[in-house]
Amino acid sequence: MTTLSLTINGRAYGPVQVRDNLSMNDFLREHLGMTGTKFGCGAAQCLSCAVIVDDADGTSHTTPTCVVSAASFNGKAIRTVEGHAANGELSPLQKAFVEHFAFQCGYCTPGFLNEAQVLLERLAKKPVARVDLEKTVTEALDGHLCRCTGYIKYHEAVRAVILAEPGRYLLAQAGNG
Ligand code: FES
Ligand code: FES
Repeated sequence: MTTLSLTINGRAYGPVQVRDNLSMNDFLREHLGMTGTKFGCGAAQCLSCAVIVDDADGTSHTTPTCVVSAASFNGKAIRTVEGHAANGELSPLQKAFVEHFAFQCGYCTPGFLNEAQVLLERLAKKPVARVDLEKTVTEALDGHLCRCTGYIKYHEAVRAVILAEPGRYLLAQAGNG
């Protein structure tokens, strides 16, 4: 058994004793009842189980939870799909996913949402040129599998959020406004 303390969506959890071989996915879903994080392939191949890890240096990245132990998250701060909406209102990304009919069954959506959120935060710090937007979104979402094949809609939705605030996410240049 291992003692686990971590922050999820800004809220402290633990210390709690967990089995050494308990996956983070099972900890979230079975122990905390946070079923927004999905379990797909169970083999680090689809990223439907991905959550955001906020690192101490201010950067963030996603990580699968299906093959990673809960114990390895001790002391870390993560965000899950449950943390995106605030005060009962969907985030701009969530709204765009809905408006673009980006998902069908929705099973892959939490992973795509987390990855796109990390991208937005990265672009807010380090904008890219408008001409590189499509490639940037494609590369960021690469690795997330959607069995309903809704890739184009996801990409459109993420691009729409970025293009709605070009001064925030894109390098200043003629045509951005
Ligand atoms: S369920 Fe974790 S990567 Fe597929
Ligand atoms: S919407 Fe069904 S797996 Fe992506």
